[in-house]
Amino acid sequence: MNLNRRKLLSWFGLGWLASLLPSSLIGCSESTPTATASAPASSPTSATATVAAAPSGTFKVIGTVAQLKKDKVLVSSDKKIAVVSNPNDATKVLAVNAACTHKGCVVVWNSASKEFVCPCHDAKFAADGAVRQGPADKPLQRFAAKIENGQVLVSA
Ligand code: FES
Repeated sequence: MNLNRRKLLSWFGLGWLASLLPSSLIGCSESTPTATASAPASSPTSATATVAAAPSGTFKVIGTVAQLKKDKVLVSSDKKIAVVSNPNDATKVLAVNAACTHKGCVVVWNSASKEFVCPCHDAKFAADGAVRQGPADKPLQRFAAKIENGQVLVSA
């Protein structure tokens, strides 16, 4: 009787262990896509993918002219698009991809010097995205931008 009880308990032990195996495997397979989805949003690849996914020719509102006058720059909620007043014509706006063409850091508008400055390696870009100072050697990508009914619209 003692031997049968031991045998029975060992079978229950194996059954309990075996019952954990499927949930462990499912747990592993569910965690893999989550890890991929949480890749850093600031990487140049993801920035390019986001901009490329936007339908061309479709303008979206980035902000208002009043906001632009107050803040000197408008930045889209995903921080991919920056809009400034055209230094040569204050009635027009210029829009660029805010990802630095050197390594992808988000550039910042300096309203005093009227240029975009990269906080990572100090590259500088004119309002139209042209390179003023390296290490970046390519201009910021330009987007079509316009003002309509007091709103600033960008096609990206
Ligand atoms: Fe902008 Fe290096 S990432 S200068």
